[in-house]
Amino acid sequence: MTWVILCKVIVPALFVSHGAAQSFNNAPPTFWRKPTITASYSTRTDSAKKAFQPIFDNLVNQTADSLEFKDNPPEFSMPGTFIYELALFDFLTNQTQYRDTVQSYFESVANDNPYFEGAYLDTPLIYGYAAMQAYHAYGDPLYLQYAQDSWEFGSDWTITTDDVTNGRFPGANWTLPPHCTVGSLAGGTFYENVNNSFFEGQSNSTYINALATGSFFVLSALLAEATSNQTYMNAAELTLTFVENELLTGSDAVKDGINGNDCGNGGFNYPYDAGIMIEGLAVMNSLQALQDINTH
Ligand SMILES: *[C@@H]1O[C@H](CO)[C@@H](O)[C@H](O)[C@H]1NC(C)=O
Ligand SMILES: *[C@@H]1O[C@H](CO)[C@@H](O)[C@H](O)[C@H]1NC(C)=O
Ligand SMILES: *[C@@H]1O[C@H](CO)[C@@H](O)[C@H](O)[C@H]1NC(C)=O
Ligand SMILES: *[C@@H]1O[C@H](CO)[C@@H](O)[C@H](O)[C@H]1NC(C)=O
Ligand SMILES: *[C@@H]1O[C@H](CO)[C@@H](O)[C@H](O)[C@H]1NC(C)=O
Ligand SMILES: *[C@@H]1O[C@H](CO)[C@@H](O)[C@H](O)[C@H]1NC(C)=O
Repeated sequence: MTWVILCKVIVPALFVSHGAAQSFNNAPPTFWRKPTITASYSTRTDSAKKAFQPIFDNLVNQTADSLEFKDNPPEFSMPGTFIYELALFDFLTNQTQYRDTVQSYFESVANDNPYFEGAYLDTPLIYGYAAMQAYHAYGDPLYLQYAQDSWEFGSDWTITTDDVTNGRFPGANWTLPPHCTVGSLAGGTFYENVNNSFFEGQSNSTYINALATGSFFVLSALLAEATSNQTYMNAAELTLTFVENELLTGSDAVKDGINGNDCGNGGFNYPYDAGIMIEGLAVMNSLQALQDINTH
């Protein structure tokens, strides 16, 4: 998880002054140590490439036909994070340096696991995100298909308005409340894929977490942007309603999650809980300016 978050921060930061004009007028807080990036563009791209090399050398199992990371094979999301960094690097540098690598990695993962399913929801959806980065970088519609397949996995574990009406999530042996204090749980994405063999049928987790919900939110918004398919826009909007009703704390923080059986509070609020929602909001806002964006 730390890996995912770090990578999400590092590569965009490297290119921050190369990308589109920033719309923020805020000066960085005075306690930031070195807020100005002075390194040249080529120095920054070289740094990013150097950061990839140890991953190629040490983490990717070069002898296997399939993409697997040597240190931690059960962490299914890690290669997805690396794939997305490679594609994003090519996109930001307007190159196709890693195109074949990204394609062969994606093929090997999709071959084993066509819907990019993991035991949890919050990190495997990185494959959908990676596919969208690859689609932006290389324009191959195959990546749109991968992103849609990953989205299906997220959708399967996201509560619909029908589920709330029925009072039950498919396969769950507990009751979904008809409403929480404000609104309902429709649009929330579960933390665990309880059907995964990893849990050996023992888990009955009711937990809906911000990172799973937010990952599905970002992917829905990116797919809405790329395809204009209303299904994805509806999904993004339902998630947004859920987040605003159930996860906002009232002090600009996003709760880590909520219990699906009783609307009970989840754990500590981590900064990434808010960060991923901000990313989804930014994509949605580029689609159709949210009228009340200042309140979101
Ligand atoms: C790398 O892949 C090869 C071939 O599948 C396998 O025999 C080997 O155990 C793997 N190494 C590690 C460290 O996972
Ligand atoms: C990206 O590269 C292509 C091919 O080299 C070139 O035609 C295009 O103008 C470049 N685009 C940008 C935004 O630099
Ligand atoms: C999980 O398994 C149950 C029982 O087989 C099934 O009813 C349910 O649809 C499955 N859920 C998902 C999302 O695959
Ligand atoms: C749900 O199923 C689990 C596992 O079979 C069981 O331990 C639990 O008691 C059940 N919960 C309810 C509310 O029936
Ligand atoms: C299922 O959930 C119920 C209610 O939270 C809990 O008492 C029970 O221990 C859980 N069962 C398993 C197998 O996790
Ligand atoms: C829109 O996306 C949904 C979900 O992936 C899919 O089932 C449907 O076929 C798509 N519609 C069109 C017109 O492509």
